[in-house]
Amino acid sequence: MTTNRTFTMLKPDSVEKGNIGAILEKINAAGFRIVALKLTQMTGRDAKAFYAVHKERPFYGELVEYMTRGPVVAAILEKSNAVEDFRALIGATNPEEAAEGTIRKLFATSISENAVHGSDSDENAAIEGAFHFSEREMY
Ligand code: RTP
Ligand code: MG
Repeated sequence: MTTNRTFTMLKPDSVEKGNIGAILEKINAAGFRIVALKLTQMTGRDAKAFYAVHKERPFYGELVEYMTRGPVVAAILEKSNAVEDFRALIGATNPEEAAEGTIRKLFATSISENAVHGSDSDENAAIEGAFHFSEREMY
């Protein structure tokens, strides 16, 4: 069953570069409704848990370092087909391979520092959203 919700983080590079407003504008323009939103910083423990699926990969340490070096903007977004449509909006993991007009093509620096996260399934969207927000913070 689809929940029509996804979870995103505008990663530390997006916050550092002052791109929060521009990226949220793209998200709004693509028809997503903001259900929950906040600026927050992940601890090492948070980031390790969040990206545990990649723990054997050579870039895991660098990824945890990157995701914890400053605040992120965490958000839950709602739209029909949210998970798939948001992955299309952000583009490929490597910005060099991302389609024109996608958020990563426009705002990412490299495959490591790629501006935004998008959930890869409805199940993970629910887990990731609940990790950052209580029911009281979802509107
Ligand atoms: P995300 O989970 O952040 O939405 O990204 P994704 O699905 O497009 O990519 P994934 O394979 O899940 O990788 C998670 C994040 O790890 C960093 N990465 N670095 N140096 C590298 O080769 C490399 N590969 C991946 C990126 O920050 C990527 O988004
Ligand atoms: Mg991923």
